[in-house]
Amino acid sequence: MQTEILEPVKKNIQLCAAEIKSGGVVAFPTETVYGLGANALDETAVKKIYEAKGRPGDNPLIVHISAADQIYDIAAEIPESALLLVKKFMPGALTIILKKKAIIPDIVSGGRDTVGIRFPSHKVAQEFLHECGVPVCAPSANTSTRPSPTMAMHVYTDLNGKIPYILDGGRCEIGVESTIIDLSEGKPRLLRMGGITIEQIREVIGDIEVVKSSTEALCPGMKYKHYAPKADVLFAAYYDDMFQTICERYDFSVKMGKNPVILCLNQDKEKCGGRNIIYMGGSYDDYAHNLFAALRQADELKFDTIIAEGVAPDGMGNAIINRLVKSSGGQII
Ligand code: TXA
Ligand code: MG
Repeated sequence: MQTEILEPVKKNIQLCAAEIKSGGVVAFPTETVYGLGANALDETAVKKIYEAKGRPGDNPLIVHISAADQIYDIAAEIPESALLLVKKFMPGALTIILKKKAIIPDIVSGGRDTVGIRFPSHKVAQEFLHECGVPVCAPSANTSTRPSPTMAMHVYTDLNGKIPYILDGGRCEIGVESTIIDLSEGKPRLLRMGGITIEQIREVIGDIEVVKSSTEALCPGMKYKHYAPKADVLFAAYYDDMFQTICERYDFSVKMGKNPVILCLNQDKEKCGGRNIIYMGGSYDDYAHNLFAALRQADELKFDTIIAEGVAPDGMGNAIINRLVKSSGGQII
């Protein structure tokens, strides 16, 4: 199978929707990362997602909808806190976990009695989901363990020959996945930091328990190796003198015959003293937007060691920290 990258014009969106309706899989853009979609109500179609990605079967999939009221079609119980979050953040980079209706097959929920629901804000995603006319389950459209795709080309690199179409919606604006909040057990719990910050969530539903990623049983995907480029990733802890550590580790790896690069915010360029840099932009939002692309770019440029500048745990900093801790396999310097 040759994979085609399609411009997001009406005719192509209809072609991709027809593929979904006939039991196929299609990669499509969202504001967070690209997703690999299938009809969530069709078990045979959903299996194709797991095959294309090489994804472990106990890892549930998020169901994507094209209008907020479709939540009622797939969720069995909708608490007040869910309604508040839906009103404020949907469409947007939020996934809520609710008790599921029987219509959602076990293969989507990983055998659980809950379902993750997301209504993306990306216009191409909305048009595509609307044309599909069915709920579309989709994980990130990367090969399992690889950095999530934020451009059509990233999907192509990972899945060429395994899926028929990639709908090209340009670069994903946010660049890290949705924030996941579990509302299925009464007290809201934050399972994954993402595109909506915890500060934003607290403004709407008050304080929220943050589940440590060590409590992996709650969010099964978190236990697997994640976001890993070919290069070794070292993640710098955030403190005033972190660039001293970053530069020392860089110079040490050069002495060891390695070819390192620093992921660095534009304003910190001078602190790298002429060493190799990939620029991450001027803010934490930019850093998140550029992160997965930078990990892939480092591989393409044949760097074998990536040293990522640390960020403070506020705003999008939390999502960046979560992704880089995983990406580095816990190699914090
Ligand atoms: O931004 C996003 O959320 C992207 C785009 C494509 O929508 N999707 C995405 O899907 O990141 P994925 O499969 O790469 O990550 C979904 C995470 C996994 O860690 C999975 O275990 C968790 O959500 N998850 C899904 N359904 C769940 C459920 N019912 N209970 C607990 N965790 C769930
Ligand atoms: Mg993923």
